[in-house]
Amino acid sequence: MIPVTPIATERPSALAADISERLTLAIREHLLSAFAPDNTKTLRLFSAPETAELLGVSGQFMRKVHSEGTLPEPAENRGGRRYYTAQEIWDARHVLEQSSRKPGKYTPQRAEGEKLQVWQLMNFKGGSSKSTTTIHLAHYFALRGYRVLVVDLDPQGSLTSMCGISPEIEFDGLTIYDAIKYDDPVDMRDVVAPTYFPGLSIAPSRLMLSEFETESAVHSDAEQPFFTRIRNAIAQVENDFDIVLIDSPPQLGFLTISGMAAASSLIVPLTPSMLDVSSTAQFLELAGAYMEVIEDAGASLNYDHFKFLITRDEPTDIPSQQLTSFMRALFQDRVMSATALKSTAISDATMLKQSIYEVVRSEMTRSTYDRAKSSMDAVGSEVKQMLHDAWGRV
Ligand SMILES: Nc1ncnc2c1ncn2[C@@H]1O[C@H](COP(=O)(O)OP(=O)(O)O)[C@@H](O)[C@H]1O
Ligand SMILES: [Mg+2]
Repeated sequence: MIPVTPIATERPSALAADISERLTLAIREHLLSAFAPDNTKTLRLFSAPETAELLGVSGQFMRKVHSEGTLPEPAENRGGRRYYTAQEIWDARHVLEQSSRKPGKYTPQRAEGEKLQVWQLMNFKGGSSKSTTTIHLAHYFALRGYRVLVVDLDPQGSLTSMCGISPEIEFDGLTIYDAIKYDDPVDMRDVVAPTYFPGLSIAPSRLMLSEFETESAVHSDAEQPFFTRIRNAIAQVENDFDIVLIDSPPQLGFLTISGMAAASSLIVPLTPSMLDVSSTAQFLELAGAYMEVIEDAGASLNYDHFKFLITRDEPTDIPSQQLTSFMRALFQDRVMSATALKSTAISDATMLKQSIYEVVRSEMTRSTYDRAKSSMDAVGSEVKQMLHDAWGRV
């Protein structure tokens, strides 16, 4: 239990410090119970039908490769039903690929000539679902055998905690800040850490990252311009990944802009409300102005895709549907076809720092889970199509 002490009211500084201390304590307690017992996050098992779907094969095919002995049995078998860890699914890809007639069917990683995909999710409107979309895309691709790196550019670190690292609980490892700072930066290879989720690594964030904003104002110059720093950091680990997803802070500062300069595609998540649409218009006006400035300074920006994604979509809410139609009429295919549905399944999952892919279906109302999952799958599948386009795959 957290002791309830009267809040210090004398001075604002004391008040803020007091509130912060109590919140930190409460968060730590909450997280310790979510990450119990050893403060590490783990991933659930996947049923045989889920595994077959992720591998893109039938249940019958799975039974066949098991009975032939091509594919080793998963460790977990409950009453004749197989359950797989994500690592076993990852390993199964490599086994099945060896006897596959279609190269890349099971291991879809990029081949020579297919450039690293760097996708930034950005909008200065907080709550537009940047972090939620980033983690869902990350899990979608990792579960399908792609090597994914997420870069958390938000000093608040919500993506970092979704990846099982709690900036609130004694995390003192290296962060993306260490790789992009002006004074004595470290190698990005020392920053990037694997997560509990096979296929997914992270360049974590912490509050310290906000120093990049102030330092850039002072140190960025022609010799070491701020906008090359994230690009250069990513280049150091380029060979280890197929897809990099950059989550941005809810503001258009040096961090977001340097992410933009590193990106090969952009997604602007947008909730269909009038306030969000008008703030997104301002965001893009500013973003455009900054893009011009950094292009004049010698950066070349060249995006394969630059899309809006409607998030927290409510099909039964008429005003929001009207705004969605308005955006589609105005921008046509610049608005992705798939939308991320507003769902309690998503908000409940994110409360536990999970994506819908980490939730066990039977622990939720099935129809709610199914709708949320298929909506997230549709978003992932459309992004997959776009990145395959960028790779020139058919
Ligand atoms: N599709 C969704 N359905 C329901 N709640 C959502 C959905 N997407 C995001 N949220 C909720 O909205 C809040 C803000 O989302 P978040 O991804 O953190 O936004 P941002 O990173 O843009 O600030 C979170 O509490 C999250 O649980
Ligand atoms: Mg966020």
